[in-house]
Amino acid sequence: MGKFSLFLVSLLIALSLCHENIVSAAGTEDGSEQWGYVEVRPQAHLFWWLYKSPFRVEDPSKPWPVILWLQGGPGASGVGLGNFLEIGPLDGNLKPRNSTWLQKADLLFVDSPVGTGYSYVDDVHNSSLTVKTDVEAAIDVTTLLKEVFNGNESLQRSPLYVVAESYGGKFAVTVGLSILEAIEAGELKLKLGGVALGDSWISSEDFVLSWGPLLKAGSRIDNSGLRDSNSLTQIITQQLKYGQYEEATQSWYELEGVILSSSNNVDFYNIMLDSKKDPIEGTTNEASKQMSTKRYSKYLDSPSLRSAKKGLSSLMNGVIREKLKIIPTGVKWGGQEDIVFPAMVGEFMKPRIKEVDELLAKGINVTIYNGQLDLICSTAGAEAWVEKLKWDGLDKFLSLDRTPLYCGGDGSVTKGFMKSYKNLYFYWILGAGHFVPVDQPCVTLEMIGSITQSPNTS
Ligand SMILES: *[C@@H]1O[C@H](CO)[C@@H](O)[C@H](O)[C@H]1NC(C)=O
Ligand SMILES: *[C@@H]1O[C@H](CO)[C@@H](O)[C@H](O)[C@H]1NC(C)=O
Ligand SMILES: *[C@@H]1O[C@H](CO)[C@@H](O)[C@H](O)[C@H]1NC(C)=O
Ligand SMILES: *[C@@H]1O[C@H](CO)[C@@H](O)[C@H](O)[C@H]1NC(C)=O
Repeated sequence: MGKFSLFLVSLLIALSLCHENIVSAAGTEDGSEQWGYVEVRPQAHLFWWLYKSPFRVEDPSKPWPVILWLQGGPGASGVGLGNFLEIGPLDGNLKPRNSTWLQKADLLFVDSPVGTGYSYVDDVHNSSLTVKTDVEAAIDVTTLLKEVFNGNESLQRSPLYVVAESYGGKFAVTVGLSILEAIEAGELKLKLGGVALGDSWISSEDFVLSWGPLLKAGSRIDNSGLRDSNSLTQIITQQLKYGQYEEATQSWYELEGVILSSSNNVDFYNIMLDSKKDPIEGTTNEASKQMSTKRYSKYLDSPSLRSAKKGLSSLMNGVIREKLKIIPTGVKWGGQEDIVFPAMVGEFMKPRIKEVDELLAKGINVTIYNGQLDLICSTAGAEAWVEKLKWDGLDKFLSLDRTPLYCGGDGSVTKGFMKSYKNLYFYWILGAGHFVPVDQPCVTLEMIGSITQSPNTS
């Protein structure tokens, strides 16, 4: 390349940077909401949306927190699902949500990995643009945080809490570590307040092993269902032991099929509910791989959310898109979600317990919270992976008694339990399935207030 073209290239880069500052971010007139795109790698764009809380309380001893919400999937949109169906200021009908987490913190939603929600790659057929691992996803999110936080001193005063649901938990622990690394390298200006793992897919092995016994004890499968389930979990255990993660993803999918047929379609997100009839007919490997992608992209297709979710796509591709203004023509919310899961089939079953240990060893506050009625990321499975931690506070933590939780001034109904030792916190939320904030908004909101040490304590 000659000198002139080099100059031209840098001019173009400079121009595109200016250009980016102008068109790739926007917000409401009153400044309470901001959103934008960050090109985290060439041709790979992440979308973010930050809500400033109207409940902000200025307390010099307790800075107002920011929550980064990471949705599961991989491939489910935090900007859509987490925001409108779980914790944001408006629900799926654009009505105010009285349990919004804005009461305790500012909320930052990010559609991650690329291909999720409004996030996109320029060429879906270019496989080098997709994210293959949790760590790659974490690096992209960290790149975005640099863009959003480094130039904003007011944001930097707020501690950031990474709060995740489901597969998002694997992203949260890798994002937590990647944030710390970037801070140490002097590349990122923010304070990490903690990481919270809601019904998080941290150890696939512990979760799949819990399914059969849980359903048998709850009358939902019989001995023959349990036997069929056990023979598949044995295979999964072997595959994980030998690092055969893609094969394990395939077996996981077959196990879900066995559980569905022997339970007459239990809902994986709430053992008290039925899932939609969904006959499984994967015959060839390829066909069933596609099926498993489809199955997982039905994330949030639980009866408790199904009706709300039905309208979500038209909402996000209708009035919300119009409001945001900066979504490029040709980018559809959810339009690229099919590229996300297939790119991560080799990662999906990989455990992230070691990363939790690393966060604990670095003194980061780690909270685990789990809905009592969840199947896919069951409480029994979460307790099992916690017992595998190498953290030196574990024995003490396990030996402690739990404190009961109530909510809304009603001391007659137990809503959960919690215990903590040093920087590990565990919340058991009763009466909730996978979508804890939806099923038990009151106690979850109080929990979020104490996790983030929000100065707004009502
Ligand atoms: C695919 O993306 C990579 C990374 O941006 C880029 O270097 C490469 O040229 C792209 N390939 C094609 C065929 O466009
Ligand atoms: C929030 O709204 C729900 C119904 O939508 C209601 O049951 C609940 O009592 C309300 N909570 C508060 C704190 O107002
Ligand atoms: C910094 O972030 C806050 C939100 O916490 C926002 O109100 C403010 O406008 C931002 N400042 C700039 C320069 O973007
Ligand atoms: C962890 O949380 C506790 C309270 O829940 C708080 O006192 C402590 O400062 C937090 N630690 C860090 C490193 O943020």
